Amino acid sequence: MPIRNVGVVGCGLMGSGIAQVSAQAGFPTKVREISPALLEKGMGAIRRFLQGGVDKGKLAAADMEKTLANLHGTVRLEDLADCDLVIEAAAESLSLKRELFAELDRTCRPEALLASNTSSLSITELATATRRPGRFLGLHFFNPVPLMKLVEVVKTLETTAETLGDASAWCRAIGKTVVTVGDSTGFVVNRLLVPYMLDAIRVYEQGLASRDDIDNAMKLGCGYPMGPLLLGDYVGLDTTYSISQIMFDEFKEPRFAAPPLLRRMVLAGRHGRKSGRGFYDWSTNPPS
Ligand code: CAA
Repeated sequence: MPIRNVGVVGCGLMGSGIAQVSAQAGFPTKVREISPALLEKGMGAIRRFLQGGVDKGKLAAADMEKTLANLHGTVRLEDLADCDLVIEAAAESLSLKRELFAELDRTCRPEALLASNTSSLSITELATATRRPGRFLGLHFFNPVPLMKLVEVVKTLETTAETLGDASAWCRAIGKTVVTVGDSTGFVVNRLLVPYMLDAIRVYEQGLASRDDIDNAMKLGCGYPMGPLLLGDYVGLDTTYSISQIMFDEFKEPRFAAPPLLRRMVLAGRHGRKSGRGFYDWSTNPPS
């Protein structure tokens, strides 16, 4: 079944980006948040990104208008009932996501595909909250969604070939490159990226080098677009911590264990860009 109408649950950092790229590619897209204030915050972020594209000469003003016309915000989950594909991008909580999927399963047509953008929870476990494990999969996007070209398409033992084909075709239609991966915690990208970021924090914690020297070492020595400590702030140190906990729990390998400094920073509310302070001070632009 080709995908025509798309629903996104959550209009935060990831959900707003997913809704934006879907609408920008011409798909009527509904995005649901839990309150009008949070919905307006997410929609505002989309408008600012699109306006930034227009200002940079990357997007025609008419295309910005078309994108916004394709986007419909709502606070009611039942408004997603007629969507062919619903992507959940809510907070990284197993119980919350399972509740959402049970409700989506009751609300959406039986042939609709349900997907999670989770970065570390088990897709198989989420699918068991529904009666459609064959039409359930992971679609893992990367931050910032409009600029990062990859989607990890995650298949469980139960995901059908048709589901994979339809979801992958939609990802390509919105301009992304697809890699297909099995349902193992962290998939491919976080399996490799998270230990690297945790090691960078350990190097900093041990006083081997300064923050800027660590970031410059990887940026200039390896050609990465940003250093690992800046990336941690960018992804969110609370998110990085929570992913590391889930990965350590799954694999019991020390390389996934959060360094004590990361835990202290999260406890102190230093979550990176989103809280204004992490390894960097985000009240200045660029961060210092
Ligand atoms: N509209 C359209 N285009 C825009 C735009 C906008 N509003 N804003 C920026 N762009 C374009 C720019 O024009 C530029 O295009 P060109 O390359 O054609 O010149 C491009 O996007 C890059 O923008 P900038 O020059 O402003 O920024 P940058 O070069 O510093 O790159 C970045 C920013 C893309 C974020 C880059 O630093 C990067 O790739 N960082 C790494 C991000 C990363 O690793 N993300 C994954 C995190 S892990 C994750 O998400 C998964 C998880 O589960 C934790």
